[in-house]
Amino acid sequence: MTHLKLAERVGRIQPSATLALTARAKALAAEGKDVIALTAGECDFETPAAVRAAAIDALNARGVVDRYTPASGLPQLRKAIAAKFKRDNGLEYAPEQVMANCGAKHSCFNLVGALVNDGDEVIIPAPYWVSYPEMVNFFGGKPVVVDTSSTGFVLTAEALKKALTPRTRLLLVNSPGNPTGAVWSREAQQALADVLKGTEVAVLSDEIYEKLVYDGEHVSFAALSEDAYNRTVTINGVAKAYAMTGWRIGYAAGPRHIIDAMGALQSHSTSNPATVSQFATMKALTEDPAELDGWRKKFIARRDLIVSGLNDVPGVKCAKPGGAFYVFPDFRAWIGKRHGDLKLMDDSVICEALLTRALVAGVPGREFGAPGFLRFSYAASDEEIRKAVERIGKFARELS
Ligand SMILES: Cc1ncc(COP(=O)(O)O)c(C=O)c1O
Repeated sequence: MTHLKLAERVGRIQPSATLALTARAKALAAEGKDVIALTAGECDFETPAAVRAAAIDALNARGVVDRYTPASGLPQLRKAIAAKFKRDNGLEYAPEQVMANCGAKHSCFNLVGALVNDGDEVIIPAPYWVSYPEMVNFFGGKPVVVDTSSTGFVLTAEALKKALTPRTRLLLVNSPGNPTGAVWSREAQQALADVLKGTEVAVLSDEIYEKLVYDGEHVSFAALSEDAYNRTVTINGVAKAYAMTGWRIGYAAGPRHIIDAMGALQSHSTSNPATVSQFATMKALTEDPAELDGWRKKFIARRDLIVSGLNDVPGVKCAKPGGAFYVFPDFRAWIGKRHGDLKLMDDSVICEALLTRALVAGVPGREFGAPGFLRFSYAASDEEIRKAVERIGKFARELS
């Protein structure tokens, strides 16, 4: 049979490692194994009742959700998004500067597609969300990865200055961040904004974990100054804030010509995000649902539980993240040790061994540009977290 050739650009990307590991943990569970999956970037809570009710009302109002909407979203949703930016972030956007996408991942994809030419450099602070370099590669750009593990997972002005070249087109900012949960302070972000003054570098500020800040404050890059506002596209979504990963709505706001270009790209690829989800999102954004405060408190308790538990495991060091629902412990002291017949060569082997021998699923740090670390999501019950930490501790005591 003829082996049909794939496009060269698709050969530059790999399937998502986090989704693959989540699927693997699920498959082991389906075989009857008692696996604790701390892999997914997904809340374990239900979408708030008022949001579900708004979607049901829209479904019951015959004909409303059966049709296309404008490709960039319903005008009333764009207004609701603009109002959210004003209320929560002090950012003034006209509805035309705002659009809805099929998830924040799609917002990022559209933005990279709208800005990056072949060979353009994109600065990606590491550890990074797995999809950033893949999107840049797909569109022919060049990821310029800057390690932040020795500066508390925060990009410094010095490191940014070193990475800038005349080919730099875009800087990625993600606070609170995946996989580290690090929250970048106002001063840290202001220092980056100062470095960018006078350049033609755009900023993608991915603020998807905005509602999950436990220490410090959430700062929107675009709100730092007029200069920062003019070079930034702010991306956010409902997935993490409102336990709505399945609804697939993200949104973006920024300079009008960039939003128009993203809209053109979207109009020829997905068209509008699902109409029913747009109605649900309007409700979530206009009424910050009552459940949110309780969720934050639960996440703080879970974070404290997993951080202290992991720091008690021999050889593991775990920083306390200020936001999101991930921890990113350092397992480098385990590398080179043995578990029975197995030598722990690197974080992938550690991860595989923890999955098959301790039945705890995490994601190797190398997938996020930080070998030697592992990512665990604590969007899991207290009991699961306790059990997972116990199992990792037992595994650690068996190492030689
Ligand atoms: C940093 C970051 N941005 C964007 C997304 C994607 O969000 P969505 O589900 O809205 O596409 C994720 C999801 O894991 C993420 O961690």
